[in-house]
Amino acid sequence: MERWCGRVAVVTGASAGIGASIAESLVRHGMVVVAMARREQRLKELAEKLQGGGGGPKGSLHPLKVDICNEAEVRDAFQWVKDTYGAVHVLVNNAGITRNVKLSEMERTDVMRALVETNVIALSLCTGLAVRMMRESGVEDGHIIHINSVAGHSILPFTGHHSYGSTKHAVTVLTEGLRKELMEAKSKIRVTSVSPGLVKTEIFEAAGSQEDLYKENPYLNPQDVADCVVFALGMPSHVQIHEVTVKPVGEFI
Ligand SMILES: NC(=O)c1ccc[n+]([C@@H]2O[C@H](COP(=O)([O-])OP(=O)(O)OC[C@H]3O[C@@H](n4cnc5c(N)ncnc54)[C@H](OP(=O)(O)O)[C@@H]3O)[C@@H](O)[C@H]2O)c1
Repeated sequence: MERWCGRVAVVTGASAGIGASIAESLVRHGMVVVAMARREQRLKELAEKLQGGGGGPKGSLHPLKVDICNEAEVRDAFQWVKDTYGAVHVLVNNAGITRNVKLSEMERTDVMRALVETNVIALSLCTGLAVRMMRESGVEDGHIIHINSVAGHSILPFTGHHSYGSTKHAVTVLTEGLRKELMEAKSKIRVTSVSPGLVKTEIFEAAGSQEDLYKENPYLNPQDVADCVVFALGMPSHVQIHEVTVKPVGEFI
């Protein structure tokens, strides 16, 4: 990870769960992390927590209040990164939501819209803006990481989460599609999909879901996923970890 020290990472959805752990890990590896989310106070608390921690190379965390579903805000945020740091070297597309809704009972479009806008469209926009900035600023060894899900590779046994699964299947296609485009362009920018099984975060609470999957199922901690991101980033620049699937021991999916 030494070569990333002092370089710039954008992490979306860094105010909670997996994104907060990834942001923290990258700071501990010396990166300058631009942490994006809507809950600015949470981002500020994370920045404060990381100030003055002991040991090893230390980076920094810069909170940026961004609703990734608001195209103008996202464009402004990436422009701010360019104006402030000159470049982005790593993008972690982590922000994501789920909703518990049965396909057979979907009578309004707002749920599906929110899922697609957050998990697919915003991820695609952030990717496009980051790759363009990498190219314009001559970053040849940039890295785009998509936080995908086991739901992006199989059909989950839980009804109510197939709408979410459809967006994560899209992320699987967007990962390989981006890799192919970069390959055709002879770019050295790498792309990785990290696909966790169940992780203990606020995602179901944020979905307003009453179900408690953590009660009866084994789960990962956000740090386990952050470790996978560090693993993929830490590989030599000619090695592309295409897909990391990580499950808690005993997961039945
Ligand atoms: N937890 C799991 O079991 C699990 C398993 C596999 C994959 N994943 C994936 O992991 C990623 C992170 O999820 P998590 O479990 O850590 O969920 P979480 O604890 O609910 O955190 C979600 C993060 O996304 C941000 N976010 C959501 N909508 C946003 C928006 N419109 N604009 C900006 N930020 C937004 C939230 O920030 P604000 O609310 O402050 O904006 C929050 O920081 C997601 O892509 C999810 O699909 C999770």
